[in-house]
Amino acid sequence: MEKITIAIDGFSSTGKSTIAKQLANKLKYIYVDTGAMYRAVTLYAMNHNLISKGQFKKNELINNLNKIHISFKFNSQLGFAEVYLNNMNVEHKIRTIEVSELVSEIAKVSEVRKKLVEQQQEMGKNKGVVMDGRDIGTVVFPNAELKLFMNASVETRAQRRYDELLKRGDKVTFEEILKNVKYRDHVDSTRLDSPLIKAKDAIEIDNSELTLNEQFEKIDKLVQEKL
Ligand code: C5P
Repeated sequence: MEKITIAIDGFSSTGKSTIAKQLANKLKYIYVDTGAMYRAVTLYAMNHNLISKGQFKKNELINNLNKIHISFKFNSQLGFAEVYLNNMNVEHKIRTIEVSELVSEIAKVSEVRKKLVEQQQEMGKNKGVVMDGRDIGTVVFPNAELKLFMNASVETRAQRRYDELLKRGDKVTFEEILKNVKYRDHVDSTRLDSPLIKAKDAIEIDNSELTLNEQFEKIDKLVQEKL
């Protein structure tokens, strides 16, 4: 069977990665979490004192981009690929609220985007890929056979993210998460380079009222129509 490219974009915490992982497992496709890549660059910048609240040494980061190597390794116990920054597993570290608070600033930088988009295009060049992010259907794979644009109410999204972080033992408040989700929605959709917008040919899915199973069934049907 011909393989296709599935692009999943949308606002923060809309459950893009959950559905992308499920689809990739079912179709035996590669799954690429591009948000993890922007988060890994952010972690690098934090670890090298290039960014914190109130200061950002943007040019220094740009000059150091060639020292940032991001890769994915499949973890068979978890059933998905974890992200590595310069050969260190950073899957846990990149999901903290501290990284979430800085990542959208990093993602505005065109040089960062150029580097990561090239790597993403390389990873998906043979199709058979489910990729999620903010600009996959518009910039990374504008010719993807199936484009989805996920949405849900901001409160639903913040609640999901809050539950996720509490489960892993992070000390955060709901208000803090809600504020971060709103902030990232705003910065990601108003930046100059590759803003988050729905591609003209993307199918919008609002999953505020859908269970995971209902959502999967609906999307799986759309996929089957394309195969
Ligand atoms: O998907 P996730 O919430 O982990 O993404 C973290 C951040 O990375 C987003 O808020 C956005 O600033 C940036 N991002 C992006 N383009 C992508 C994926 C993520 O700008 N394709």
